[in-house]
Parts: sequence; structure tokens; C-alpha cells
Amino acid sequence: MSPSASWSGRSRGCTGMSEQSASRPLRILLLNGPNLGTLRRRQPEIYGTDTLAQIVDRARAHAERREATLEHFQSNHEGALIDRLERLDYDAVVINPGALAHTSYALHDALLGCGRPAVEVHLSDITAREPWRRISVTAPATRHAVIGRGWRGYLEAIDVLLDEADRRQGPSRTAHAP
Ligand code: DQA
Repeated sequence: MSPSASWSGRSRGCTGMSEQSASRPLRILLLNGPNLGTLRRRQPEIYGTDTLAQIVDRARAHAERREATLEHFQSNHEGALIDRLERLDYDAVVINPGALAHTSYALHDALLGCGRPAVEVHLSDITAREPWRRISVTAPATRHAVIGRGWRGYLEAIDVLLDEADRRQGPSRTAHAP
């Protein structure tokens, strides 16, 4: 798997943004899983020196530049992430599941079942780390995975979703990740 991978050839429950009205901004839900709330002090040599709040601010600014909205939720608890997905008050999902990517079939099923397109992000290149970390069981429920790009990966994931929305609705958005 290359650092930025397309998850093609799989069945996906998240089929499209058909319920999103062209007249209102696309609502992106940004989810971060266990231990991502401690970014900056957690292994900065791997995950960088930015706090999660700083990264979320940049992601929100990027989404707003492209005329979308972004709501963020971080939890250390698998069930809380699934409960948030089940609220269905969003059009598309960007998710860094943390270590749940390697273990959680329940989160996979929630992503598949939400009926919204999702993109998975990993700050580090999980394909070049421990063998158990190389597999994501959640990524097959998403459109695409952005891996090993640091915090910019969140912006790239937003672009994947908004580019797809633009293809459906016409190119009203322009700015891309730096
Ligand atoms: C991570 C990679 C996971 O393996 C790890 O458990 C994390 C962070 C990443 O962003 O690189 O918590 O998702």
C-alpha cells in the first residue's frame, strides 16, 4: 500500500452524498480516535509537534475556504465514535481511527453503515512500521486513505471529499491543500 492509497474494488456502504443539498455547504465530520488528543507530547518524532487543536483549526479553515463546514469529535472510546457516526448529522467523514484502525470491525461496520463517504487519515506511514500496524481493518469501509503525510493529510482528505462533491455538483470550490 502506498502512503496515499485508494481503496478500490471493495464494497462500500458509503455510496455518495446524494442527500446533500447543492444549496448548503457540505458538512464534514472529522473524527479522531484513541490517543490523538495527546498529540504534541505523544511521540513527537512520529506524530509531529502540533496539538490536535492546531490541526483541527487548520482543517476547519481549509474546509471553510472550500465552502464546507467541519465539526470535530475526538474520543478514546470505540463506542463513542460509533455513537457519533450514528447521529448522521453530516455529509462526509474524515477519520483518523488511531489504533482502532488495526482492530475495530465495529468501527468498520459503522463507517460502512453510515451511508456517507469517508476518508481515513494516518499521520504516520503505518505501512512502514510494526507488522501489526500495517493493516487497517477500517480503511476498506472508506473511499481512500491518506497515510504518512502528517497533519497535511487531513487537508488532503478534505480535498478528496470536496473534489468528489464538486464532480457531482459542479466546481464551486477551488482551493486545495498546500
Ligand atoms: C495513527 C497510527 C496508529 O497506528 C496509531 O495507533 C495512532 C496514530 C497515525 O495517525 O499515524 O494512534 O493513526
